[in-house]
Order: sequence, then C-alpha cells, then structure tokens
Amino acid sequence: MNNLVVVGCQWGDEGKGKLVDYLGDKADIIVRFQGGNNAGHTIVTGDKIFKLSLLPSGILRDNKLSIIGNGVVLDPWALKKEIDSLENLGIKISKKNLMIAENVSLILPFHKELDKLREEIAGGKKIGTTGRGIGPAYEDKVGRRSVRLSDLNNPELLRERLERSLAHHNILMKGYGKSEYSVFEVQKKLDEISHFISKFSTCVWQELNQDKIKDQTILFEGAQGSLLDVDFGTYPYVTSSNTLAPAASIGSGVSAKEVKTVLGIVKAYSTRVGEGPFPTELINDQVGDHLSSVGHEKGTVTGRDRRCGWFDAALVKQTCTLNGVDGIALTKLDVLDGLKELKICIGYNINNKFYNYLPSSIDLAKKIEPIYEVFKGWNESTVGVTSLERLPKNAISYIKAIEKSVGCPAFIISTSPDRDDIIEVQNPFER
Ligand code: GDP
Ligand code: IMO
Ligand code: MG
Repeated sequence: MNNLVVVGCQWGDEGKGKLVDYLGDKADIIVRFQGGNNAGHTIVTGDKIFKLSLLPSGILRDNKLSIIGNGVVLDPWALKKEIDSLENLGIKISKKNLMIAENVSLILPFHKELDKLREEIAGGKKIGTTGRGIGPAYEDKVGRRSVRLSDLNNPELLRERLERSLAHHNILMKGYGKSEYSVFEVQKKLDEISHFISKFSTCVWQELNQDKIKDQTILFEGAQGSLLDVDFGTYPYVTSSNTLAPAASIGSGVSAKEVKTVLGIVKAYSTRVGEGPFPTELINDQVGDHLSSVGHEKGTVTGRDRRCGWFDAALVKQTCTLNGVDGIALTKLDVLDGLKELKICIGYNINNKFYNYLPSSIDLAKKIEPIYEVFKGWNESTVGVTSLERLPKNAISYIKAIEKSVGCPAFIISTSPDRDDIIEVQNPFER
C-alpha cells in the first residue's frame, strides 16, 4: 500500500490539480478530504482546460474511483453544476466512478448568505473569503447542527435537522435585518436535488477499509494550502478546515497508519488570494507584475488577482515540517524565465530579532522584514522541459537552494500548465 497525500505548502493555487491529475494515472482511488468549492484546480490536457472545485482531479481519468470524503463540506447545487459541465466536456460521471461519504456535511443557501453578510460588515477587516459558505458550514458541523448527506433520505430526520440549524441561523438573519428561512422551503429545495446527489452516497470509510482495497493505491488530494490551515495558518486569515496532511485520515476514514508518503506542492514563488499577512509580497513592483502576468495569477474561483511575491523558504520549511513532507513538487519554474535575479526568503527581522519561522501574532507579522538570499536568474526558456539535463545551470542552482532551505528533496518539477510537462526525479509512489 503506497498511499500518497498531496498537499499545498503555501497559500493555495500551488498547482495541486495538475499534480494530482498527473499522479492520478499511477493510483487507483483519488480522495478529496477537506475544503469545498472554495478550491479551484485547473488541469490542462492538450487543448482542453478543466476547472474543478469539488470533484477530485482523478475524475478526468478512465477507470479511477473518485471519492469525496466526510471532511469536505458539500454544496449539492455546486456539485450538480460541476458534474453537468464536465459531462458537457465528455467526462462520464456515475456511481461507478464517484462516491460521496454519506456523513459529509452540506453547504446550504443560508451558509452562503451568512458568509457574504459577514464579509460585507467586516469592511477593512474582512478575510476575503470565496463567499461559498465554507466557514458557516464548518461552524455548523462542529456546532452539531449540520444537515448531512444521509439525512436527505429520511424526510422526518431532515426536517428535525433543518429545524435545529435554522433555530440558530434565523436569529442571525434577523440580527442582520434579513428575511428568515423557512424549514419547508429549504426542505423543498433539498428534495429537488436529493435524488441526484443521493445516488453517490456511500459508507466511504467502509469502502476504503475493505480487504480487497489493501493492494490498491489511494491518492489523497488536498485543497487550499497549509498556510490557510485553521490551526497552523496565518490565522484568522485562513480557511475553516485543517488543510495539513493528517486531515487526509480523519477526512476520509482511512487510518493514519495507511499513509506512506506526503508530497508537498510548492510554487517556485509565492502567491496569495484574499487578505492576510504575506511577508515577501511585491507591491507595485516590476517583478511582482512579471509573476502576475506570466504566471496568469488570477483566482480560479472568484477571478480575483492573486498577490505575488518572492519564494518564502522560512514558511515552506515550516509547512513541510507540519505536513511531514517527504518530497516536494516544484511548480511554475518556467514563470521565472527571464528574471535577472531571484530572491529566497530565509527568515525575518521583527523588531530587531531574527525569526526562522512566522510568529503567530499578526501584530508582530505586520512589522516583518524578510531576509533574502539572492540568486542569478536565467534567460533560456524552461517551458515544457521534461528532463533535468535540459534545465539552465542557474535554474538547477535555484532548485538546489530551495531543496536546501526547505529541507526536502524535489521529487518533481513542473514546467508548464500541461499535464505532460513534468520532470520526474523520483516517483513518489515508489520511495
Ligand atoms: P491548485 O489550486 O493548487 O490546483 O492550483 P490552481 O489550478 O488554482 O493554480 C495553478 C495554475 O497554474 C493553474 O492555472 C495551472 O494550470 C497552472 N500551472 C500548474 N503548473 C504549472 C507550471 O509548472 N507552469 C505554469 N506556467 N503554469 C502551471
Ligand atoms: P485551492 O484548492 C487559494 C482563501 C480565500 C480566503 C481564505 C478563506 O484552489 O488552492 P474561504 O472561502 O475558504 O472561507 O476563504 O482562504 N482560499 C483559497 N486561496 N486557493 C484556494 O483553494 C483557496 N480556498 C480558500 O481566498 O483568503
Ligand atoms: Mg486553486
């Protein structure tokens, strides 16, 4: 059993979708274990571009089983839209290749409304969420008032669950001066989609612990990035789930003992969407503009510009440690082509004190001065390069510097958005 967890080691959008699609070819089962349709994973296969939010990236490959685990928060209407749009692109989706954990918590219309209302009134202090209802849905899960997928099959239980949930939410809606939700109306809406979504409902933990699965390979697909983890990220500017590798276990029902390898996806520079600290951010800066335009750094889900900056090795070392990363996949190296010099942040000066990690106090983080090591860039194009020998000397030096500063070897280097443009130094399933 060579099960592999793929996680993002920065603030998301590291290229997880591309890597999971690539590695999915070598796996039997692909599992999403946290997050929801706040994720946006782009996969390019020749002339086709696929954008996935909820479905595991394995769904694009034939003869693979894709699973949405219990750790996800699932918007049934968003899922239907995504399935319909993929089917229009020729991807067949049925209960043969998609299973959804029966105990997954649902995102309901009032979660989305609450997410947006809170952001509106927060003004300058907003988180910059994706507005998909992720936070409120996770709050309801730990608040023990979620509606879960299995509840849809039992009208009486569903009504009870909705009554419990709306007893809470209608107080909030009233407070915000908004209309209250009726149990009857929400139940009616759910009834309309119930047949479509319930056919995928499965006792996933049992499915993944059967004896016959033991010789199959599971690939766990992380969403968001480690710096958006609700415990270890740049709190409160984070998402509402644990995004780190150990969440793969609790978010799917597979014991932590069954996970062999953790692959950390790392962009060759840094980006972030939404608010929050970003020590190496390049604001009104030519290099920042280069990264943004050459890297096409626009959010997949909300279309917002991603903030861009230098590679932050102090932060990536921190997240590699927290995830137990065995090796990294370094993506978007090609975006650095043509830059004269490159910088890697190796720590921070905060109030005249050196830190090799990001302290959890945001006030401290505001006065942060990154400390950089400087490297020579390269002029040659690395776009589409598939062997180490064809990389410019300075690109190799940059990769080596990253490996050294984050303390992990590069298993994979990605040199374009396309599925096949990969340098595989080490197959992560065979270590
Ligand atoms: P994810 O959320 O981690 O799956 O990443 P996204 O898909 O949101 O963002 C990564 C973007 O970079 C996508 O548009 C990918 O097609 C693209 N991408 C991935 N790897 C590479 C690469 O090596 N080079 C370039 N130029 N683009 C890449
Ligand atoms: P993928 O899987 C980048 C960010 C939002 C916001 C914060 C909280 O594509 O890497 P939320 O809607 O989750 O409550 O928003 O988290 N965020 C992401 N940023 N990539 C993502 O996913 C993200 N998912 C959430 O921008 O700052
Ligand atoms: Mg993304």
